[in-house]
Amino acid sequence: MPPKRQYRNIALVGFMGVGKSTVGQILATNLGFEFLDTDRVIESHTGRRIADIFAQDGEPAFRALESSLATQLEARSGLVISTGGGFVVNPANLESLRRHCLVVCLWASPGVIHERVRHQSHRPLLQTQDPQAKIAELLEKRRPAYQESDILVGVDFRGASETARQVANSFRRLQSESEGSGSAGSRVP
Ligand code: S3P
Repeated sequence: MPPKRQYRNIALVGFMGVGKSTVGQILATNLGFEFLDTDRVIESHTGRRIADIFAQDGEPAFRALESSLATQLEARSGLVISTGGGFVVNPANLESLRRHCLVVCLWASPGVIHERVRHQSHRPLLQTQDPQAKIAELLEKRRPAYQESDILVGVDFRGASETARQVANSFRRLQSESEGSGSAGSRVP
C-alpha cells in the first residue's frame, strides 16, 4: 500500500505570473492558515532581493536556498505556501512538498502569462530580448514537473477568488477523506 499522504499544508506551484501569491493569500484567509511565499522568506533570510542573488551569486545559489527552505518547511503545519516558479523543477523539492502538502499547480497558457508579466521587471529569468519566447521555452521544459502536482487548476479564465475557493474545497474534501477512510493518496483529475 502506498504511504499515507498527510495534508498539513497546501503548496501552490506553477509558472511565474500565474497568481500563486494572490490566490495563496486569499486561500490562507479562507482556511485560517498562515501564508508564506518562498521568495519572500529567502529575501528576508538573506537580506537580499532575488534579482541580486541571481546577479551576484548565480541561479544555482538561489536554487540551493530554495532546497534548504524546502527541507525546513517539512516540520510546519497550517501553511499555504506559494512557491517560486522554479521551486519544483528540482524533483527533491517536489518530493519534499509532497510529504506534508497538497500540491496544487496553477496553470496558465504562455500568452496569458506574458500578458500578466510584461510590465514587471523583478524576475531575472524574464529579463531577455524576447520574454515571450523564454516563457514558452521554460513552460514546456517545466511542464512535466508541474504535472506531477496533485491538482491542476487552469487559471486562464478563472479569477483568484474562484481559484482559491476551488482549491479550498478540494483540500477540505481530501483532508476529510484521508482522516476518515485512511486511504489518502488519491489524485484529483
Ligand atoms: C522563478 C520564479 C520567481 C522567483 C525567481 C525564479 C522561476 O518566482 O522564484 O525569479 O524560476 O520561475 P515567481 O514564480 O513568484 O515569479
